[in-house]
Amino acid sequence: MKLRSFITSVGVLASAIVAFHGAAAFGAPTRYEAETSPATCTGTIDSNHAGFSGSGFCNGNNAVGAAVQFTASASAAGTATLGVRFANGTTTSRPASLIVNGATVQTVQFEGTGAWTTWVTKTLTVSANAGNNTIRLSPTTANGLANVDFLEFEVAGTQPPPGNAMAVVAAMQPGWNLGNSFDATGADETSWGNPRVTQALINGVKAQGFKSIRIPVTWGQHQSAGPAYTLDAAYLTRVKEVVDWALAADLYVMINIHHDSWQWVANMPGDHNNVLARYNAIWTQLASRFQASSAKLIFESINEPQFTGSSGDAQNAMLLNELNTSFQRIVRQSGGNNATRLLVLPTLHTSADQPRVDELVSTFTALNDPNLIATVHFYGFWPFSVNIAGFTTFNAEVQQDLVSQFDRVANAFVSRNIPVIIGEYGLLGFDRQVGTIEQGEKLKFFEYLGFYARTKRLTTMLWDNGQHFGRTSLQWSDPELIGQIKSSWTTRSGTASSDQIFNARASAITAKTVTLNLNGTTFLGVRQGTTDLVAGTDYTISGSQLTFTAAALTRLSGSRAYGVNATVNVRFSQGVPWRINIVTYDPPVLQNASGSSGSFTIPTTFRGDQLATMEAKYADGTNAGPQNWTSFKEFDFTFAPNYSSNNIALKQEFFNEVNNGVRVTLTFHFWSGTRVTYFVTDSGSTITGSTS
Ligand code: GCU
Ligand code: CA
Repeated sequence: MKLRSFITSVGVLASAIVAFHGAAAFGAPTRYEAETSPATCTGTIDSNHAGFSGSGFCNGNNAVGAAVQFTASASAAGTATLGVRFANGTTTSRPASLIVNGATVQTVQFEGTGAWTTWVTKTLTVSANAGNNTIRLSPTTANGLANVDFLEFEVAGTQPPPGNAMAVVAAMQPGWNLGNSFDATGADETSWGNPRVTQALINGVKAQGFKSIRIPVTWGQHQSAGPAYTLDAAYLTRVKEVVDWALAADLYVMINIHHDSWQWVANMPGDHNNVLARYNAIWTQLASRFQASSAKLIFESINEPQFTGSSGDAQNAMLLNELNTSFQRIVRQSGGNNATRLLVLPTLHTSADQPRVDELVSTFTALNDPNLIATVHFYGFWPFSVNIAGFTTFNAEVQQDLVSQFDRVANAFVSRNIPVIIGEYGLLGFDRQVGTIEQGEKLKFFEYLGFYARTKRLTTMLWDNGQHFGRTSLQWSDPELIGQIKSSWTTRSGTASSDQIFNARASAITAKTVTLNLNGTTFLGVRQGTTDLVAGTDYTISGSQLTFTAAALTRLSGSRAYGVNATVNVRFSQGVPWRINIVTYDPPVLQNASGSSGSFTIPTTFRGDQLATMEAKYADGTNAGPQNWTSFKEFDFTFAPNYSSNNIALKQEFFNEVNNGVRVTLTFHFWSGTRVTYFVTDSGSTITGSTS
């Protein structure tokens, strides 16, 4: 993970333990959605008949020759089994020519299925070439095609072998990171506050449905001085013990050189030979120790590579290329299973920026090794990921950033049959506290991430410091969050503009509307517990606008105590429901306060509301506090609400960069839409806060 986030996580852990697949697994067919390029549809991509997979289906023009075409990849030539999922709401069969790689091989009947919402999969057998095959269904009558949802494609007997890196990486989805254990930079795996890793934990990860585990390891503090650079035998044995537990659980396992990247590998520009010798010594010893290990063990050259004191991008690229190629050479030359073991090479900073991706493509081209995997990390659009600059929501810009990053690696690598692992993903704010990003916005981020990674055939590995999956409880700290993440691995879910509806206690309850994001699903209804709300009476739906009536909100609000009065679930045809909290609030009340820059809290009666962000400006309109390119300060880093202690803390980091003796105007933005103005002055020795 990123440098600052792991430093802060140390603090968090000290007080309380507070990262598809298109090419599906071998033995499972690969699904190609009709709505997803390179598939083509002579007609429209529709989503009006429920029950389809992905985000839509091909409604071909009702004409002879108005075809749907898929491009399906086979790892070897052979007999392919096709599954075509279709719906035909008429009573007349809709025949089509099946054209494989340009040759018509048969005419297929697509009979009536009873309804446009009744989807049926037809199984066909054809011979396929190694590599890409075009599979075209071209209607032979003026009625056109049935509606077509997807093609599933599988070549008989395809195993993921050494030699089919794409298939193996597909089989590694989904993955999970054993974060803040062996990557910890202290004396041992417990030095960042997590308990000793147990076999029960590893089996628990497997039982959660993960197919791969990344075990980040920091080696430097367990290594003798040069020139031997010998790894501590007990530490190496302990790492191997945990790797073996994971292999025994039938997980793919990825080990690496982790925080060494910034601890000493970063010094390579000024200390080239020593750094390279030390790095090579680690890989020489690991290659030897794990030479006979299963092919399911995968090596990653280095985590988040970075260099200090280099002359710039060109030198950075050269140094990283040197590390990656040295690693590949050492492992390959060690022989045994290492001759074909899958090896993972990162971009600089594991960044998906185009220049970083292009640099790694050059390394792959030069190495010309079929058993290589590219890796990048993804923590989302940075201002959203930490909650700064007013990016409190999963808005279009945040979404586009995800799309651009995933597209860049998919275009550069996957399209050339080089698999990609998103070796870490999450939100950086999680390392401070999971409340840094609002729950619903968080859920939308992960829903989209899982969907888009799947579409682009990227394998994803959740970063987990111990804040998600309990290391001893084996329970998820946030079942709703992991529910959304797990669902995103196979399907989309509907979401909405918000997961909160606020009703001010000071006034009468009025009807409230949220906008649904159907994401290709259809709206089914709204439930409170097991009771359906009544359409028309409790809510109305108009397009994507879901309006709760005043009567329903009044009933759900009960005695109107501040806070969450009721929870309802909006249900869709696919995926997990969308929870909406019905909240009673009044504008929060802040009080005058005094304190020091190291200890300053504003007594706050939240009255049911929740803090979204805080702005800080001087009277002349300029921005105050750190990161003063924005008035909206970083959540938790500069300020933090405490709902149980009824206060908002302003942190030392904020006052460190506030001008002494100059009054700062703070604007607290609450999720209800309420804004509260407050004033603070740092006199140098004391902080004074006032409401006016
Ligand atoms: C209806 C239906 C479409 C279908 C079309 C057809 O319009 O809604 O989904 O494609 O009939 O007959 O082809
Ligand atoms: Ca049609």
